[in-house]
Amino acid sequence: MEFMEVVRNRRSVKKFRAEAVAEEDLKDILEAARLAPSAANIQPWKFIVVKNDKKKRLIGQACSSQEFVGEAPVVIVACATSRGVMIGKYMESWPIDVAIAFTHLILAAWNKGLGTCWIGDFNEDRIKELCEIPPEVRVVAITPLGYPVKVPQATPRRPLDKIVSEEVFS
Ligand SMILES: Cc1cc2nc3c(=O)[nH]c(=O)nc-3n(C[C@H](O)[C@H](O)[C@H](O)COP(=O)(O)O)c2cc1C
Repeated sequence: MEFMEVVRNRRSVKKFRAEAVAEEDLKDILEAARLAPSAANIQPWKFIVVKNDKKKRLIGQACSSQEFVGEAPVVIVACATSRGVMIGKYMESWPIDVAIAFTHLILAAWNKGLGTCWIGDFNEDRIKELCEIPPEVRVVAITPLGYPVKVPQATPRRPLDKIVSEEVFS
C-alpha cells in the first residue's frame, strides 16, 4: 500500500476474524517496530506476543474489561525496558520511544491487512503479573492484532489550519 493510504485508512479495530495471523506478517510488523527511532538510539522496548487464549482473555479483563482485546488471535504488550534518556530537563524518553515503535507496528500491521487498537486503559500491575514482566519494566501500550471483520468508519480529525501555525504559536 502507498504510505498515505495506510495512514489515511487505518482504523482502530475491535472485531477480528478467527483466522490466525500469518507468521510472516507478524514478523514483518515486529520488524517495523524494531526499526523505529529512539532517543540516543537506546531502543528501550520489548514486545510480548501473546497467543494463549486464556492469557489473552485475562489481559482483556485487565484492560478495564475491554473483552474485545482478548478476542483477537494475537495480543501485543509493549514495554519500556529502561527510562531512556532525559529529553531537555524534565521529559524522560521512554514513553515517547515506545509510542513511536508501537506506531510503526500499528501502521505496518494495517499495511498487511491487519487491524489493531491502541489500548492505554489497563491495570499495569495485573498485566505485569500475567506476562511475568520484571518490576523495573513499564507497560506502555497494548493492542489486539488480527484481520478485521470489517473496516470501521473514520473518526473525525481537526483540520490542518486548526493544528498548524506559521512561525509562532497562534
Ligand atoms: C494513547 C492511546 C490510548 C488509547 N486507549 C484506548 C483504549 O483503552 N480503548 C480503546 O478502545 N481505544 C483506545 N484508543 C484508541 C482511540 O480511541 C482511537 O485511536 C481514536 O478514537 C481514533 O480512532 P481511530 O484509531 O479509528 O482513528 C487509544 C488510542 C491512543 C493513541
